[in-house]
Amino acid sequence: MKYYSAVNKKICLTILYSSEEYQIQTFAGEYRDLKCLIQDRLFTDDFGQCGGMGRCGTCIVRICGMKEGSGFIRNEGTTLQRIAPGIEDIRLACQIPVDDRLSNVTIALM
Ligand code: FES
Repeated sequence: MKYYSAVNKKICLTILYSSEEYQIQTFAGEYRDLKCLIQDRLFTDDFGQCGGMGRCGTCIVRICGMKEGSGFIRNEGTTLQRIAPGIEDIRLACQIPVDDRLSNVTIALM
């Protein structure tokens, strides 16, 4: 029972893409990561070309308001240093799990 209540908790976020604002509702466990959510809901072109390996950098996003405890994982830091050195508040969407930390955040596709 605890598993279902945690998995089905609603997550609401805002995504800015191509001069439009999208209000998205999802829940933990519906998508493997933020890249999958964005591709599925917004049908983005050329987004996430390496399929989530954290290498291509095409899934780069700027995130405002994300809760603590969401540091870089795997090779995300190295890729961001290569493609966007010195820019803050950016992440690779493929490296971000869809969970409660995304509630009420604003995400801009870059
Ligand atoms: S899909 Fe390539 S870095 Fe995220």
